[in-house]
Amino acid sequence: MIQKIKIIKSLIIIFSLIFTFSANAETVEEIIKARKALFSKNYSTAKRVQALSSKGDFDRAKELMIEMSENYKTLLGLFPENTKEGFKTESLPIIWEEKDAFNALMQKSSDNMIKLTSVIEDSDDIRATLREFMWSSCKACHSKYRMPH
Ligand code: HEC
Repeated sequence: MIQKIKIIKSLIIIFSLIFTFSANAETVEEIIKARKALFSKNYSTAKRVQALSSKGDFDRAKELMIEMSENYKTLLGLFPENTKEGFKTESLPIIWEEKDAFNALMQKSSDNMIKLTSVIEDSDDIRATLREFMWSSCKACHSKYRMPH
């Protein structure tokens, strides 16, 4: 009888370990997929910001700039320690070696999108302004923290 109870107890422990492990693995996959999806979304939004600003539709463009700024803030939370590898991540290990610098760059990219909303309308050179406040952020970060692709 005691032997049986011991076996049942061990089984419960084994099953709960398996459950915890697979639940955790799923979370890692979800986080990596979520950040990839958000970067892709920001890319298509950035292209729309460019198109709308070129047409002079600043109201719509500004809404999307704010959306991009918010997405960067969400991205700050999508690089936990346990998501360094797997699931086709293109993130480089250096992100976690200098997390403060990486986060600062993400925050700056977010802040620059807000600055963009206040300078875009009075800009003499729309393309140059978009390059300075929006597109340069992508390159600054990718050149250091994302795998060559
Ligand atoms: C502060 C850093 C940072 C900034 C700013 C940044 N990116 Fe990225 N980006 C990354 C990292 C890191 C990855 C790799 C994510 C992964 O695979 O885990 C990435 C991945 C991507 C991907 C691939 C997503 C996928 O499906 O694999 C695209 C597209 C992309 N970024 C576009 C942009 C564009 C466009 C901008 C600027 C408007 C930008 N990123 C700004 C760091 C950044």
